[in-house]
Amino acid sequence: EDAEKGGYPHYMLKEIFEQPTALQNTLGGRLHEENAEVALGIELDPHAFDRVHVIACGTAFYAGWVGKYLIEALARIPVEAEIASEYRYRDPVVDERTLAIVISQSGETVDTLEALREAKRRGAKSLGVINAKGSTITRETDATLYIHAGPEIGVASTKAYTAMLAAMSLIAIWLGRARGTLEEAAALELLRELRRLPRLVEEVLERRDVVAHVAEKYHQATDFLFLGRHIQAPTAYEGALKLKEISYIHAEAYPAGEMKHGPIALIDPHLPVVVLATEGPLYEKTLSNVQEVRARGGHIIAVATDGDEEIRRFAQDVIYVPRVHPLLSPIVSVVPLQLLAYEIAVLLGRDVDQPRNLAKSVTVE
Ligand code: G6P
Repeated sequence: EDAEKGGYPHYMLKEIFEQPTALQNTLGGRLHEENAEVALGIELDPHAFDRVHVIACGTAFYAGWVGKYLIEALARIPVEAEIASEYRYRDPVVDERTLAIVISQSGETVDTLEALREAKRRGAKSLGVINAKGSTITRETDATLYIHAGPEIGVASTKAYTAMLAAMSLIAIWLGRARGTLEEAAALELLRELRRLPRLVEEVLERRDVVAHVAEKYHQATDFLFLGRHIQAPTAYEGALKLKEISYIHAEAYPAGEMKHGPIALIDPHLPVVVLATEGPLYEKTLSNVQEVRARGGHIIAVATDGDEEIRRFAQDVIYVPRVHPLLSPIVSVVPLQLLAYEIAVLLGRDVDQPRNLAKSVTVE
């Protein structure tokens, strides 16, 4: 088993560090800068639907939520991000002009599979975004886009998540180009940024020490709050989920703009608040949310873009990440949150790869 961990103490850490390679494999051969197109190799008519339901569970659901922002921004198709266990029982409005995108690392999650079957019964076209080759879901979708992240052993999903995000970016660009909503120049910029991703994630991994220092400082906290806006709201939820799963610390996530409607009452010096404050359309708004927390004595750990000095005025701790296109920022920003959860769990002596009560793949309801 030690050999399989490739010298890492845990599968989770190994898989976190495999992300540059995993991303390379997700993107490999699919980016075509010469005509600003992506080649997905799937048989699906991009004009055959006018709404999209992205359906998944757990971490894959957060990838779906990011996908909603991506597809709506680039392809201007209305998208619902749906939790599979809800979707399958809530009599969803689906017809022949609906595309169901199901996202799953294992391809075996029963709620996701049953939600897919439900959507298909009602006439939807279907596309799987899947890691495990030949898994049950891949046999039931009209088309499958493999994320090629390689086997993931750690129960807490890491490299599959970033690979799912990269895959959702590809789908959004593909739809945007095919449907004429994404201009060549804008597509080209995204493709170039996607190509840089493996290197950017590597840069984040090289900064593990910074995250370890933050973990050291806050690992005794009993609660954490994670905040983010726009396409970084799902990143906040995924960061909170990782921490819950492997450290057993209570963590809650909120879209930062919604904080004033409740969670702000929780702010005190004992609640570390992790804020996704990377560059993007809502940066200034996020900064004012950060100020609100700071004014109430909260401790801010900011994930911010390289070169942002302003954030230092409000945050006690800053974890810098390299600059990237704002629509791709979740892929870069989630990595320090994975590391934070990992470092805290190790400091607390938790079983990182086999957290209590959790299963890698949930095949019973
Ligand atoms: C389980 C795992 C999670 C995973 C979820 C969905 O709960 O512990 O890490 O995100 O299932 O799994 P899937 O294989 O469908 O992506």
